[in-house]
Amino acid sequence: SGPGLPRRPALEIPVIAHRGASDDVPEHTLAAYEAALLQGADGLECDVRLTADMQLVCVHDRRVNRTSNGRGVVSTLELAQLRQLDFGSWKQPAAGEEHEYAEYPDLRREGAHRVLTLERLLQLVVEHPHRVEMAIETKHPTRYAGLVEEHLVALLDRFGLAHPRLGETSPVRVMSFSAMSVRRIRRLAPSLDTVLLLDRVPLRLRDGSLPRGVRIAGPGIHILRIHPEYVERVHSMGNRVHVWTVDQPSDIDLCVELGVDAIISNRPKAVLARLGRD
Ligand code: G3P
Ligand code: CA
Repeated sequence: SGPGLPRRPALEIPVIAHRGASDDVPEHTLAAYEAALLQGADGLECDVRLTADMQLVCVHDRRVNRTSNGRGVVSTLELAQLRQLDFGSWKQPAAGEEHEYAEYPDLRREGAHRVLTLERLLQLVVEHPHRVEMAIETKHPTRYAGLVEEHLVALLDRFGLAHPRLGETSPVRVMSFSAMSVRRIRRLAPSLDTVLLLDRVPLRLRDGSLPRGVRIAGPGIHILRIHPEYVERVHSMGNRVHVWTVDQPSDIDLCVELGVDAIISNRPKAVLARLGRD
């Protein structure tokens, strides 16, 4: 494939659990991330937002309405208020199906479905016996512009994850659809990997180039179905491709054929099986 990066063999493609093992277990809960690690995922993806009292919590939507029994905008609620909510009961298994709970009863324990702070998730990661990759996405509320990144790097620093020593790499990378957010991270923690997420590939990036300092492109799988050549273009620039959200067998196969550098999936177990790693 020319001078740049070679295509990655299937067995070497890291599998990253999107919002945890979120197809089986309610997304962004400790239980979802524990399930992902039990299933053998190589890494965990999470979205982060700031609460009204400046705590980073793992919640995808601007509001808590979809994934909890409460209502309201995350950035206007304090952590203590979020802790009152149940982030588990909204998700019921489809008729005739069972949650991963059947296999891992401990995931049902008290507290496993409360709001998850990034601090608690990082604790899970650093305590795990194997290296776990972390792909943290800043959800960038304009109300707190710049503060999310500052709090994120400060928290990573507390775990020794923001500024790895010379010759070491942090297991953490920061992703965003916002080029500005990615730039802020690069300024605060220059040695962290950053991922520019892409919902569509803008014309100026079609040649596979990325903004200065960004080494990883994060296209949605829908882009690669239409523009499979994008992977080789990014590789030819010496950069990597992490694809989301890859759940269907045909999409997993496409990622393998293209030799992408990470697969982000709601179904890590199914992806690992298809890659021959079960
Ligand atoms: O991993 C990137 C992907 O999560 C971006 O989309 O909406 O699921 O955060 P979204
Ligand atoms: Ca995300």
